[in-house]
Amino acid sequence: MRIIKIFDTTLRDGEQSPGASMNVDEKLQVAKQLVRLGVDIIEAGFPVASPGDFLAVKKIASETRGVTIAALARAKEIDIEKAAEALTPAEQKRIHIFLATSDIHLKYKLRMDRDAVLEAAIHAVGYARKYTDDVEFSAEDATRSDWDYLCRITEAVINAGAGTVNIPDTVGYTVPQEYSELIGYLFDKVPNIDRAVISVHCHNDLGLAVANSLTAVLKGAGQVECTVNGIGERAGNASLEEFVMALKTRPKFFNADTKIVTEEIYRSSRLVSKITGIMVQPNKAVVGENAFAHEAGIHQYGYLKERSTYEIMKPETVGIPRSKLVLGKHSGRHAFKERLKEFGYELSDADLNKAFDRFKQLADQKKYIFDEDIEALVMEEVSKVHELYTLVDMSISSGMKQKPTASLKLKIGDKVFDRTEYGDGPVDAIYRAIAHITGTGSNLLKFEVKSITGGTDALGEVAVTLEEDGKTVRGHGADTDIILAAAKAYLNALNKLAAKKR
Ligand code: KIV
Ligand code: ZN
Repeated sequence: MRIIKIFDTTLRDGEQSPGASMNVDEKLQVAKQLVRLGVDIIEAGFPVASPGDFLAVKKIASETRGVTIAALARAKEIDIEKAAEALTPAEQKRIHIFLATSDIHLKYKLRMDRDAVLEAAIHAVGYARKYTDDVEFSAEDATRSDWDYLCRITEAVINAGAGTVNIPDTVGYTVPQEYSELIGYLFDKVPNIDRAVISVHCHNDLGLAVANSLTAVLKGAGQVECTVNGIGERAGNASLEEFVMALKTRPKFFNADTKIVTEEIYRSSRLVSKITGIMVQPNKAVVGENAFAHEAGIHQYGYLKERSTYEIMKPETVGIPRSKLVLGKHSGRHAFKERLKEFGYELSDADLNKAFDRFKQLADQKKYIFDEDIEALVMEEVSKVHELYTLVDMSISSGMKQKPTASLKLKIGDKVFDRTEYGDGPVDAIYRAIAHITGTGSNLLKFEVKSITGGTDALGEVAVTLEEDGKTVRGHGADTDIILAAAKAYLNALNKLAAKKR
């Protein structure tokens, strides 16, 4: 059975999803989970794009082992140098160069002719080989490129030293039959193709990214680029979990598998969804809430008699747990730490202590503590940044015949400021008070609130998305008092914006 390499680009193409930007620590959490998931390559970012991207790639390169770390670069020396520098601490490093090959991109974006692009590609691959033996070349917009030109450039970059050549469907335009023919054409026409791994990278604009990737595998592609939950630019990328489970469920048909530890799939999906704030739709294949729910009576009857009547894969194979009571008031730090590891979170000792203190407080307030409660507490710690604004105190009054009023004390540096505001509701009042004290110019794009588990003592979780000067951040807050959770989420987002400005 062939083993297909999984090139995960959740941290690069996935991060290009609108509103999905992650800070360095959040990216590191995801990267560590990707290692547990067993991906072969993690594309950690695009170092030349911003200092934040550079730092994230460097940190992931130094804190992960047993996986190849890739960094993206245009076919420019400065990009390649930055990628190489960020990758220095990696155990295994890959420089991933991309350059468009379609006439439409050549004419309107690059303003270069085909020969010039060919030369630039050869030069860039050769230049990158000075820094590492593992170089990937992506022919951006390959599926709208002239097939014979694509063959020429593929042959040339392999000769220049590219060990992987990627054939991206950048705009999600191709369809399975056509993509299969294109990959077959390359295998027939490129004389040195056996010296490289052919990779595919499909976008989901027509909902065909996974189907296209699978047809390419049948034609000989040896690497698939994908993201957890299928997040990515526009309609997203091929979803890792769907691609992997298609191979796992139909081994005879594909005669191919991956090294993915499928039991880590659900955890990875939850973590990415929590960190990016991009929810998973309930009917999403493999990881959606309803993916294994049998509703129709006749289905339930068949399922109870014999699971395989209506179930092609088992929820436990992808690590879907049953929500269970995990820890209580008397649980110790060690059990707490182990439980967090099972969710996919690895915290520093300091963050672990803070999360554990919060857990103990919660255990005093709330009788039953579920996995989801603990996850929400941990998210607060994971998404914390250096606090410019710290909440000191807050009180609210509200009622049917009373205008909602919030009084707030906020610490900025060594000074404590207070402010009382009215609002349409208690959250509005508290947000007005925070906005007044901090003088923020940000816009509140999204305010999401949900109860983590059932019961009136449930932990409430609030996530807010703020935007200022084109920068978008997400803040999280969790508390049994939903107004306090809302205040924490707003302050967390403002602290993130302040950190971004710094
Ligand atoms: O979609 C695309 O073409 C890309 C390349 C950078 C590989 O993301
Ligand atoms: Zn892409």
